[in-house]
Amino acid sequence: MSLWAEFLSHQGRGVTKWKPYFHAYQRHLQRFVDQSILLIEIGVFDGGSLQLWKKFLGPFSRIVGIDINDDCKFEEDQIAVRIGNQADSGFLQSILDEFGQPDVVIDDGSHRSEDQISSFRYLYPRLSKDGVYVIEDLHVPYWDKEVGKVEPLGNTIDFCKSMIDELHGRYLTGRRSKFTDTTRSICFYDSLVVFERGVVQNLFAPRVGLSNFGPGIVMDQRGHRLLDPGESLPQDT
Ligand SMILES: C[S@@+](CC[C@H](N)C(=O)[O-])C[C@H]1O[C@@H](n2cnc3c(N)ncnc32)[C@H](O)[C@@H]1O
Repeated sequence: MSLWAEFLSHQGRGVTKWKPYFHAYQRHLQRFVDQSILLIEIGVFDGGSLQLWKKFLGPFSRIVGIDINDDCKFEEDQIAVRIGNQADSGFLQSILDEFGQPDVVIDDGSHRSEDQISSFRYLYPRLSKDGVYVIEDLHVPYWDKEVGKVEPLGNTIDFCKSMIDELHGRYLTGRRSKFTDTTRSICFYDSLVVFERGVVQNLFAPRVGLSNFGPGIVMDQRGHRLLDPGESLPQDT
């Protein structure tokens, strides 16, 4: 069943999600359905979204919610909730120690940029190698601007824009980072961003078919160069 259909038929704990998020979640989480995966959601509130993930992802998934509010605590088959601050890396590490490496992290917690950025910095490098990191409600800094409370530069939107540069770090000499080498995509939707991990080290653009213009190009640790005649293609990562 689609996530939207699961949402519409949901009768458990309360859950609210902006409608456009369903398209994004369906697209990025579908491949985890019926897999043995760990999803961590920052921000539990009534707890309905944890139940929704469980129904959507199926019986092999484990769902962990984290929230700063003790009233959000509950437990059921496949679902655990732990209480702590998303900005506290010691707390986040205790979650990883207890439950293992997450495949999916969804940040629907405080919606404060400094918290979102600090959780991302700690958890993203610790995701499984093809994991997914989602930050919801990116519109919050824009809303603040509307009412005249401009968040200082450095809000989550600014941070995500800077990560676009880092994604392309290999094209800026000396600017490749672990993020550059382990991120396949950054997808923006209205108010939501999805970071997809993946090993991206040897990029090459082989040419097939007849051409008067020589071989394809390789972008690897040695930089941008043409494929040598007879050279085998780099390992496809
Ligand atoms: C929007 S609600 C979560 C809604 C839920 N994900 C859903 O889809 O139904 C945000 C939650 O984040 C929690 N929260 C706020 N600040 C937090 C922080 N610093 N660390 C962890 N949780 C926080 C709040 O207590 C609240 O329950």
